[in-house]
Amino acid sequence: MDDTEDTLLTQAGADIAAAADVVQLEALRVALLGRKGRITERLKALGGLAPEERRSAGQRINQLKVEVTQRLETRRTELATQGLNARLLRERIDTTLPARGQPVGGLHPITRTIQRIESIFRILGFESVQGPEIEDDWHNFQALNIPESHPAREMQDTFYLLNGAQLLRTHTSPVQIRTMQERKPPIRIICPGRVYRVDFDRTHSPMFHQVEGLYVAENVSLAELKYDIQQFLSMFFERDIKALFRPSYFPFVEPGADVHIRWNDPTKGERWLEVLGCGIVHPNVLKAVGIDSERYTGYAFGMGVERLAMLRYGVDDLRLFFDNDLRFLEQFA
Ligand code: DAH
Repeated sequence: MDDTEDTLLTQAGADIAAAADVVQLEALRVALLGRKGRITERLKALGGLAPEERRSAGQRINQLKVEVTQRLETRRTELATQGLNARLLRERIDTTLPARGQPVGGLHPITRTIQRIESIFRILGFESVQGPEIEDDWHNFQALNIPESHPAREMQDTFYLLNGAQLLRTHTSPVQIRTMQERKPPIRIICPGRVYRVDFDRTHSPMFHQVEGLYVAENVSLAELKYDIQQFLSMFFERDIKALFRPSYFPFVEPGADVHIRWNDPTKGERWLEVLGCGIVHPNVLKAVGIDSERYTGYAFGMGVERLAMLRYGVDDLRLFFDNDLRFLEQFA
């Protein structure tokens, strides 16, 4: 034997400690403990020794084998930990870096305005209801006291469907009719939605939005209408609004009024602006839906959403709401 177990252990220990990766470590294991490994060869050689020597040599070599196996294992664990640490360092994410912006959408200013109107009227005790955009002549006109020959029909250029029997509603007032057909007073509702008219310029769009309001109960008065509208306007614009009720004509109310508010326009100065129509529900309308007009009275109002949104946001061209230019829309997000 040219080297003792001690020197073999010292050498193997140094080699194991110097192994730079698991591949080198595995090569060492094979060289020491594999089928033709140095330690294995020694174990095999035991057979050729004298019996009295064999026992103590066997013990020494086995001990050597245990020791080397243990060092290989220790080094393997070390290398694994080092590898993991290096990888963690390499793949580290700096969570303090500012994130790349993910664009977030926002609600359209018209949607926001409708939601604002709804939430104010909810506080005032109004429930929000919906009706169809495709209507018939009866709900859109006749039941609202606008007969066939009535000049008011010419005020509104109506889109008719090809079947001739249906039309795109020209206002949200037909939802009043549908609601009164379904419910008994007291009724306190608003109806936001799209309406359609043959019209297109700086202040008119063929599709726009209205919010209709209706309150029917016993003893509903003009004073209540004025109070509620005044409340709404001040809440909507978040300041005291001076409102003027000027007599006006709508077939479905009597008396009827236009509401004007005192408005300070940056370019045109102080002036009165019309913002909505309203009045006391005409008895003919109540009759059309089978509500006793002796017992019940009601008020109604209708407003244009785009109009209110233009005033609130200082937008001077209605078409901006329909172009969907992101540079415009992003200002409301
Ligand atoms: N329907 C009317 C329009 O489209 C608006 C309106 C005016 C509704 C007066 C009403 C009202 O309920 O009382 O121009």
